[in-house]
Amino acid sequence: MDRIRIAGPCTLSGRVRVSGAKNAVLPEMAAMLMIDGPTRLTNVPDVHDVTTMIKVLGHLGMQDLELRDGVLTAAGCEPSEPEAPYDLVRKMRASILVLGPLLARLGRAKVSLPGGCAIGARPIDLHITALRQMGARIDIEHGYVVASGTRLRGAQIRFDKQTVTGTENIMMTASLADGRTVLRNCAQEPEVADLAAFLNACGARIEGAGGATVTIDGVDRLRGATHAVIPDRIEAGTFLMAAAATGGGITVEACRPDHLGAVIDTLRRCGVQLQEQGDAITVRPDGPLRAVDAKTLPYPEFPTDLQAQYMALMTRARGDARITETVFENRFMHVGELRRMGARIEVEGQTATVTGPAPLSGAPVMASDLRASACLIVAGLQAEGETMISRAYHIDRGYEHVVTKFRTLGARIERVRG
Ligand code: UD1
Repeated sequence: MDRIRIAGPCTLSGRVRVSGAKNAVLPEMAAMLMIDGPTRLTNVPDVHDVTTMIKVLGHLGMQDLELRDGVLTAAGCEPSEPEAPYDLVRKMRASILVLGPLLARLGRAKVSLPGGCAIGARPIDLHITALRQMGARIDIEHGYVVASGTRLRGAQIRFDKQTVTGTENIMMTASLADGRTVLRNCAQEPEVADLAAFLNACGARIEGAGGATVTIDGVDRLRGATHAVIPDRIEAGTFLMAAAATGGGITVEACRPDHLGAVIDTLRRCGVQLQEQGDAITVRPDGPLRAVDAKTLPYPEFPTDLQAQYMALMTRARGDARITETVFENRFMHVGELRRMGARIEVEGQTATVTGPAPLSGAPVMASDLRASACLIVAGLQAEGETMISRAYHIDRGYEHVVTKFRTLGARIERVRG
């Protein structure tokens, strides 16, 4: 298993380009199951989750997908197999995104239940309830969701809780259902809006995506189109925090500052000097940081996917920063590793209080999930001495060329194979 070695501390400088959003491209790939004719997605990141989704779609009969130089093409072959097996789904929870498209296209689907994961239980009850409201028959059998329904119909659906992949699954299904579906209390993440933009380019009729209420008028078929995936706001936020944590000055290019409002606002309140220019954000090297509280909530609030990286940054700030996680119930696994590097963090329920500044020292640490591994990189860059992060595969799931990009910014970071 690969590890990542960082020789710290370092001060980042230079320019870095953000890749396409993993969380936008995954539902867009699942949507390809419903599309007739050649489809092209550009700005696709070469990350393991994309490779896993290519395998999932290949297993479902779409063996014509090709990713080259950031462009993913599908010639337009139809899915022939309705079953997404446990071995593939367990590698990536987002595989549940094939449930709605398979059902819409083939009238049946059998998808392994994703089960728990390191950051909590993450059920899919809201996906299932909504599909039932559209007339699908759904049974849970031997660890699988077994769904059928040849003529799904539009429905009035209100999600009890905002769910990103839930909103996406139902938006896709409703695109090929009979009549109008109105979804309320939808997730408003930019990735949901990007999926709708892609589906609309393919002939779907979706309005309001990116807002709380989404209206979908079902169409008979979707045809292939070309679509550019939005930039990854979580990757961009990770670079901003890494720069601030090292007292460095960098420019993050090809990003969408408007997707990072709550993050930029929080960093500014910490004293980080940020300048937005078009699709770039520049962090200027500056003096000491202030501790600022943060609470994760659905978009447009502070994202749970940047909570861990922000915690690593707050170890440098003066005062107490209370970081409250409200989206997932078990997302503080990085706390133990940060403490081993010298961080002073107390956890009580959903809130971690980071007391700083606490200079970090390099240590062997273990990544527990994708964003926790990014947190350990942010910590390792500012720590004195060597940090060796094991289980580097977590970071490869969602960050494209992460080692190369940080090296370009002047970090002494390398991948240790084996
Ligand atoms: C997506 C993102 C993930 C991000 C998360 C929250 C993708 C591929 N992944 O995950 O990176 O951390 O949004 O921004 O886009 N819930 C239920 N029942 C359901 C569905 C969800 O109770 O049927 C709960 C979850 O347990 C969680 C909350 O709702 O507490 C939000 O989860 P959700 O938005 O569904 O997360 P994902 O779509 O899995």
